[in-house]
Amino acid sequence: MKIGIPREIKTLEGRIALTPAAVKELVNQNQQVYVEQDAGVLSGYTDDEYISAGATVHQSARALYDAAELIVKVKEPQSVELGYLRQDHILFSFLHLAAAPELTKSLLEIGLTAIAFETVTADKHLPLLAPMSDIAGRIAVQVGSHLLHQPSGGRGILLGGVAGSNKGNVVVLGGGTAGSGATQVAAALGANVLVFDPNEAKHEKLKAMGPNVSVKKPDDSEIAEAVKKADLLIGAVLIPGAIAPHLVSAEQVKSMKAGSVIIDISVDQGGCIETTRPTTYENPTFVWEEVIHFGVTNMPGAVPRTSTQALSAALLPYVLELCDENWRSNAGLSMGVNVENGAIILPALS
Ligand SMILES: NC(=O)c1ccc[n+]([C@@H]2O[C@H](COP(=O)([O-])OP(=O)(O)OC[C@H]3O[C@@H](n4cnc5c(N)ncnc54)[C@H](O)[C@@H]3O)[C@@H](O)[C@H]2O)c1
Repeated sequence: MKIGIPREIKTLEGRIALTPAAVKELVNQNQQVYVEQDAGVLSGYTDDEYISAGATVHQSARALYDAAELIVKVKEPQSVELGYLRQDHILFSFLHLAAAPELTKSLLEIGLTAIAFETVTADKHLPLLAPMSDIAGRIAVQVGSHLLHQPSGGRGILLGGVAGSNKGNVVVLGGGTAGSGATQVAAALGANVLVFDPNEAKHEKLKAMGPNVSVKKPDDSEIAEAVKKADLLIGAVLIPGAIAPHLVSAEQVKSMKAGSVIIDISVDQGGCIETTRPTTYENPTFVWEEVIHFGVTNMPGAVPRTSTQALSAALLPYVLELCDENWRSNAGLSMGVNVENGAIILPALS
């Protein structure tokens, strides 16, 4: 298989899909790997390391896409990249098509096979989304605690408080991988954490993260009460492949205190808070009704070294699988096929 790994061009995105060590493994398995010049630099990997691993470095994205059969990248193709894709390409990346009708239309028109990391499954888990969700959840609390500082426009709260002060209130919608990462960091900081998740099987593990963590099944009036009291509200709900449900209305956001912070991690699937909209790391926040909103769709891109290592480790077995013409016999990998030959394949997306 001829595998192309382009340089990511989404705003301030620093990840690369595979590390030099993963590339070496592919080359050892007799695959040909092409890497775009400087694609690994922001993750701390040089072209020379990729060349030593056995890859060929291409100077332009166009040349790389022309040479490759399988494109392995991190984020969904940006508009210029759509012009490089062909019907016979297999594209393997994050796509989040439920919230991106224009991109879906373009991929359908190209007619290629597009496999989304976020819908690949294994034992009911999402093995390629999980490492990035864990990182995004942790970043949500790190960024959120900073945005709560008064010089950042926040209401001047130290989330964990100190002796004699109140603790901050963190509300987490969805206690899956991202929600758990957020809960763990917020609990360790000493904040009061309240998590809503309908899946009771997850409640014990979340509660075990600290005596300051409570977990409830979602209930409209309880969510409304919690949102009103939240200093930091984190959205981390997922219905795999589908648009996220709005659990918090604009009216409820209006009930929040001035200088409170919303971080909607699920923004890539449309967001679970009505007032969410996508932002980039160039301009990550906006204020609506005195509430600071953060809607970056590639949160792990801020820690590219960590994210690349975690993503690459999860990806390598699947890339090896895609090099085998019988890859469709892997049902979990086939669940990743979102569009193919101009048709929508993933039921949740149609
Ligand atoms: N913004 C980013 O950079 C970034 C990075 C990584 C992941 N994400 C996104 O974060 C979101 C969460 O991903 P994940 O891997 O944690 O998913 P997950 O499947 O592990 O967890 C989602 C949780 O939502 C819960 N849920 C479903 N319906 C609910 C409801 N009505 N109320 C409360 N909880 C509900 C589920 O029970 C589950 O526990 C996804 O949209 C994912 O794409 C975004």
